[in-house]
Amino acid sequence: MHNLNLRSLLAVALIVTGAVANAADTNVALKDAFKSRFNIGVALNPRQFTEQDAGAVALVKQQFNAIAPENVMKWQLIHPRAGEDGYNFEPADQYVKFGEKNGMYIVGHTLVWHGQTPNWVFQGTNPPPAEGQNPGGKKGFGFNGPRASREELLDRMRTHIHTVAGRYKGKVKAWDVVNEALADGDGEEVLRNSLWRQIIGPDFIAKAFGFAQEADPDAVLRYNDYGLENTVKRRKLITLVKSLQAEGVPVTAIGTQAHLNVSSASFESMDQALTEMETLGLPIHVTELDINSAQGGQRNTSADIANNADATKGGLVDDSAKRLADAYAGVFRAFLKHKDQVKLVTFWGANDAVSWRANGKPLLFDGSNRPKPAFEAVIEEAKKGSASK
Ligand code: XIL
Repeated sequence: MHNLNLRSLLAVALIVTGAVANAADTNVALKDAFKSRFNIGVALNPRQFTEQDAGAVALVKQQFNAIAPENVMKWQLIHPRAGEDGYNFEPADQYVKFGEKNGMYIVGHTLVWHGQTPNWVFQGTNPPPAEGQNPGGKKGFGFNGPRASREELLDRMRTHIHTVAGRYKGKVKAWDVVNEALADGDGEEVLRNSLWRQIIGPDFIAKAFGFAQEADPDAVLRYNDYGLENTVKRRKLITLVKSLQAEGVPVTAIGTQAHLNVSSASFESMDQALTEMETLGLPIHVTELDINSAQGGQRNTSADIANNADATKGGLVDDSAKRLADAYAGVFRAFLKHKDQVKLVTFWGANDAVSWRANGKPLLFDGSNRPKPAFEAVIEEAKKGSASK
């Protein structure tokens, strides 16, 4: 018995040191390579911030100096039920503790979003618009029952933001206050026809930023969205943020998700996107970087979670390792060119195995936390960047 215990202890020790050795294969770290330019962040899952996934944890500590919560601060997870005791703070508390313990820049994601929000938030006694009078139709909203009034929903939003952002005041340094409020597609419509917009009206965005500022006046308050590499969507972003600024709404940074693909990610398109976004005069955070190598995800840079499975279908594109390395080199060259505005670059996951687009192998580290050629390419850009500084 004694022996067995010893043996299993030894086995665990070997696994742990083996995993750490993997992470240490690289003797250079992203966070050091880009020091004095911008922070390098990573989205974490619970097995990472509770230190169960030893290999990924070692990698995270070695390579990154900023973190984002992949899911645990979303409304569905942190506030699943109505009422004062409807919150589930434990995972988010653990996430924040991990960041504090490791001296990392801690991000909060996300306060107001159409996705991963429980139905009770929108429920009430007002009849929903009749089909035909509801321009968004039934599709995609998940909730079509009797709904809350504007005042009820604003009340819930205020309480949620005050409670969640208030709890982590001073610890969470930047919040995605509103996520993905822009409409996709080439139409004229600037805003997505979400339940937030339908029930409260377009000023739900201004209200959310106001509540967030009340909760934590020192936090960076981001407007965050995807697809901003596309001219039409970016034009909508600029329209939205300019109108918020004209009204004195406290939006203090732009979050650009940057869920890219190897076919369209390039220095030129990122340079163009950053150049135009900079006209807003706000710091820019790249919030969810990954570059999809799956054939199914090459046609657009939508990150609509409803279509995620399709975006990773079909196996990898030919010559994927090289194409990924080239794509990453290009976008990092653009981040470096715009380093005065780009303050943070966050990867949406530590390695390919935990990525929400695992089939598209979109990250710098493989499923065993080993650096890929794309990692070397990014480090190379950092070196060139400092040589020309
Ligand atoms: C994704 C997570 O990575 C998944 O684990 C989850 O199932 C769905 O959401 N835009 C966002 C992120 O703002 O919150 C999404 O994260 C990816 C797209």
